[in-house]
Amino acid sequence: MDALQLLAFVLPAYVANASPVVFGGGTSVDFKRLLGGKRVFGDGKTWRGLLAGVVFGTFTGFALALHPALFLPSLLFRERMIVALLLSVGTMAGDLAGSFVKRRLGIAAGSRHEFFDQLLFLGFALAAASIYIVPSLEEIALLVVATYVLHKAANWLAHVVRLKRVPW
Ligand code: CTP
Ligand code: MG
Repeated sequence: MDALQLLAFVLPAYVANASPVVFGGGTSVDFKRLLGGKRVFGDGKTWRGLLAGVVFGTFTGFALALHPALFLPSLLFRERMIVALLLSVGTMAGDLAGSFVKRRLGIAAGSRHEFFDQLLFLGFALAAASIYIVPSLEEIALLVVATYVLHKAANWLAHVVRLKRVPW
């Protein structure tokens, strides 16, 4: 994949990851239930956010696939749709898993953790998509670096425009 194709490939995951910040809120995924005295996921994970991530992430893949050479040109159109869905579901599962582990470690909802906040979602997204496409090690390394930098910049921006309380 060239740089643009690589960016198109992860874009559904990025959009899935960012959508809950804008469209989330309401009932929390864990219904405020506790596990060992701590919240299962915390107030930062809501059903609406989860749904928004899956829907907008998948839709992003759909929009990208309209351009024949941009989004996974080696796959069939149907397969590209499934990859977009897998990337989005994987992203949201990784986001949930990150919060789950943060709560078990006693890290408060909204407080920062470099790995769980910035990179775990990418790992889950790539793992889910690997049924259809496995990027090379070089591509994965590039994605890790780009994701780390972009995610930091995006969160900072979301904070500046008052979408997020904290800049991470
Ligand atoms: N959000 C949501 N539903 C989700 C994920 C996120 O509604 N499934 C919204 C919440 O308003 C959340 C914000 O997006 O506060 C930022 O998401 P994130 O940084 O993932 O959550 P945190 O609040 O930082 O909580 P955690 O420490 O669990 O990551
Ligand atoms: Mg956070």
